[in-house]
Amino acid sequence: MDAIQCLISRRSVREYKDTPLSRQDIENVVEISQMASCWENTQPIRYVAVLDKELKDKIAEECTKKFPWNTENIHEAPALVILCAVKGLSGYEPDGTPSTSKGTHWQSFDAGVAAAHFCLAANALELGTLIMGRYDEGKIKEILRLPDEYDVSAIIAIGYPVVIPAANERKPLKEVLAFL
Ligand SMILES: Cc1cc2nc3c(=O)[nH]c(=O)nc-3n(C[C@H](O)[C@H](O)[C@H](O)COP(=O)(O)O)c2cc1C
Repeated sequence: MDAIQCLISRRSVREYKDTPLSRQDIENVVEISQMASCWENTQPIRYVAVLDKELKDKIAEECTKKFPWNTENIHEAPALVILCAVKGLSGYEPDGTPSTSKGTHWQSFDAGVAAAHFCLAANALELGTLIMGRYDEGKIKEILRLPDEYDVSAIIAIGYPVVIPAANERKPLKEVLAFL
């Protein structure tokens, strides 16, 4: 798949084949994702893979109570990657002072760049993904025993798609692009 095809064919996938994912499958995607740009090469992103069905089901049942459609999304996926950002790296000087007026903003920015790389890398390897932003962060950290310094930036479902959905319509270029 060439790069442009990879960019335009990526979709959010919510229906997956039962085919399990191996550690190697996840490593292949993360190795590419790690090439994402980040603040001062601080490499603040951590990928916590959940391949175990029981653990994944626990996350679905206990971390998405207010967002039932994500409960389904997580049950449906063969694996999850919990995308985390180590706090205090993106947007901060080595002595801990903020580098800009935006505070913690760059941490989420780095997570977004990494998530995009992750989903595109998966697409290139014929895997589907779904970024989820609605979940109970405290509960996820408790269940997975994640360190305090991890900010849970997103849950990403990953697996082999049953179908590649049609693209959602995009806003016209004139609405999103300005030339001054
Ligand atoms: C930051 C972010 C959070 C999202 N959260 C959710 C979510 O909680 N549940 C869900 O089903 N989809 C979620 N999505 C997927 C979007 O709904 C989807 O990307 C959008 O509708 C465009 O569709 P496409 O990805 O197929 O192009 C999220 C996407 C992003 C980037």
